[in-house]
Amino acid sequence: MKPFYVTTPIYYVNDRPHIGTAYSTIAADVLTRYQRLRGRQARFLTGLDEHGLKIARAAEAQGLTPQEFTDKMQLPFREAWQTLNCQPDDFIRTTEPRHKERAQALWKRIAERGDIYLGEYEDWYCVGCETFYTEKDLLPGNICPQHQRPVERIKESSYFFRLSKYTQPLLDFYEKHPDFVKPAARFNEVKSFVREGLRDLSVSRTSFRWGIPVPGDPQHVMYVWFDALSNYLSALGGPEEPGQAPLFDNYWPPSGEAMHIVGKDILRFHAVYWPAFLLSAGLEAPTQIWAHGWLTVNGQKMSKSLGNFLHPEPLAEVFGVDVLRYYLMRDMAFGQDGDFSHANLMARLNGELANGLGNLLNRVLASVVQKSFAGRIPVPAPSTRTSEDDLLQSEALRCATAAAEQLDHVAPQRALEAIWELVGAANRYVDRTEPWALAKRGETERLSQVVYSVLEVVRMLGVMISPFMPSKAEELRHQLGLDPLMATVSHDLWPSVWGGLPGGTLTRPGKPLFPRLDKDEERAALARLGITPDATTPASSDQQPAKPKAEKPKEKSKVSETAATENDGTITYEDFAKVELRVAEVLTAERVPKSDKLLQLSVNAGEAAPRQIIAGIAQHYAPEALVGKRIIIVANLKPRKLMGLLSQGMVLAASDDQGLCVTTVAGDVKPGSIVK
Ligand code: MSP
Repeated sequence: MKPFYVTTPIYYVNDRPHIGTAYSTIAADVLTRYQRLRGRQARFLTGLDEHGLKIARAAEAQGLTPQEFTDKMQLPFREAWQTLNCQPDDFIRTTEPRHKERAQALWKRIAERGDIYLGEYEDWYCVGCETFYTEKDLLPGNICPQHQRPVERIKESSYFFRLSKYTQPLLDFYEKHPDFVKPAARFNEVKSFVREGLRDLSVSRTSFRWGIPVPGDPQHVMYVWFDALSNYLSALGGPEEPGQAPLFDNYWPPSGEAMHIVGKDILRFHAVYWPAFLLSAGLEAPTQIWAHGWLTVNGQKMSKSLGNFLHPEPLAEVFGVDVLRYYLMRDMAFGQDGDFSHANLMARLNGELANGLGNLLNRVLASVVQKSFAGRIPVPAPSTRTSEDDLLQSEALRCATAAAEQLDHVAPQRALEAIWELVGAANRYVDRTEPWALAKRGETERLSQVVYSVLEVVRMLGVMISPFMPSKAEELRHQLGLDPLMATVSHDLWPSVWGGLPGGTLTRPGKPLFPRLDKDEERAALARLGITPDATTPASSDQQPAKPKAEKPKEKSKVSETAATENDGTITYEDFAKVELRVAEVLTAERVPKSDKLLQLSVNAGEAAPRQIIAGIAQHYAPEALVGKRIIIVANLKPRKLMGLLSQGMVLAASDDQGLCVTTVAGDVKPGSIVK
């Protein structure tokens, strides 16, 4: 297998890490850990983009030199990745001499090919994006579509890269490498952009000094994207002649497989400019560019003006590092936009982690193993095996294969889905085999088989979750009495055969892997994050997720008053707009004791905490049939108590003489979305 090289974007050093940048970094860490587990040589690079006008201006605003500024600002990144247990093999800064030297080497190779020439450039420049825009790409009033800020007119002498020459070679390259960009839909966008024809690209600046000097013409500094993209090679010591840079020889194609993980907004730089530079330099392109989507927070875009940037460290402190890593990889489909929701995180913690995996370990290890087998993993008695055991075993191997396939295709969310299918199957197995009853009846032989089957599944789960939740995986192994997993090259540790758990091992049962949060603890957790007790309004503006913007009921106009008094059965739009309808996802549903009609629902309506709604639909729905459904609620109905329980909204439903159906949405609309 070729050595695997995975990179994140190098982040602009003027920001602090937030949940979006943490997402790429965690994904790269998960993939690296997974590849190592499979016995593959793997290398993970992250780092910082430290040159350019944006950084120079940010430094100036703080009264620092750019170097002082970047030296200071790198620390939060290093610390955040350490906190999140992301273990890059290298952390590159573009101000390091090793990078500058190799970026210049790349420039020289391209210049020697005749692909760089001196010209003059004039166009609109967005400092936020560090990129030029032509008029047609701007919003009215010459506003940058990304940053919603006015762009600047810049005219200067500039070196150009002959990008136009690479229109056809790039299209040919794409044709030969159908998996170059993922997801496929984004690849189509890239191809149509290139098919329109490419303009030469300005790759140097003279209007500021904070950059890498252009070889042979130090009046110019390199365009920050030329500088930044070359980090993927410079961190390996490339470009270099064979034999001069071992890492480059080993990890870069054709000998290695290189994957760049990027956000969808910077795909064009990676999928068009970068392979064009490399084609020109006579080097191989990376194997794959994976463009993930963007995260909103509780239904809202993160932005400086809203002050709702969500930083990962406080979340890790309150919920635990592994829970945060799990949530980010599980809730968002890689490649699609997603929403970070505190309510969903807590629901997954309580449901999948505490009730699912944690409980599976605990329900057998804490009592049965201690009482019936003196704390040791039993040696199973084969004569007592039943079809239940065969089924669980085949399910375990099926799920392990499925999860690996998904990880091979960079679908961490689906891999976790497959792993949790096994968690569910094993919990159902425990329900059916009732080990505590076997213990009571003294059926020790059968019990040994049952306990072994469950704990062997737990062992497999421990391996499979380890890329996602490395510390919890070790805790789990420790409780089973096993040594930490040690990934070694050419040694595949992914579960593929049944029976890896040695009978007789002395277990070390401990605290629950994932403590469940009750309602008070959920509120306390949110409060620690600075979210006010009603769990909707952020207490401070910096850290906190904000409440999704509800459409404000419009003020009553004269027209609406007239309409209301006419009483002809119609209402005005203003009347209708007073009702706040929202999409909500049902997180839990249970019957209200002593009531035939009422169900107690907990729903995610895109707010910081779930809402409780008491709905009169128990005669039409089994509670479990509602879980996961996206329904429509009246969100601004005055809360009221039903059978002593507070109901914070109303579920919309349609009924006829055949029965009643709650209204759902046909597409995949985010919880919290307004219905109108
Ligand atoms: N410095 C360039 C990258 C150069 S790579 C050779 C850059 N830096 S950045 O700090 O602005 O952005 C880094 C990454 O963060 C991008 O991949 C971007 O998509 C990602 N994200 C920024 N906000 C995000 C979300 N809200 N959600 C997910 N990812 C987001 O661009």
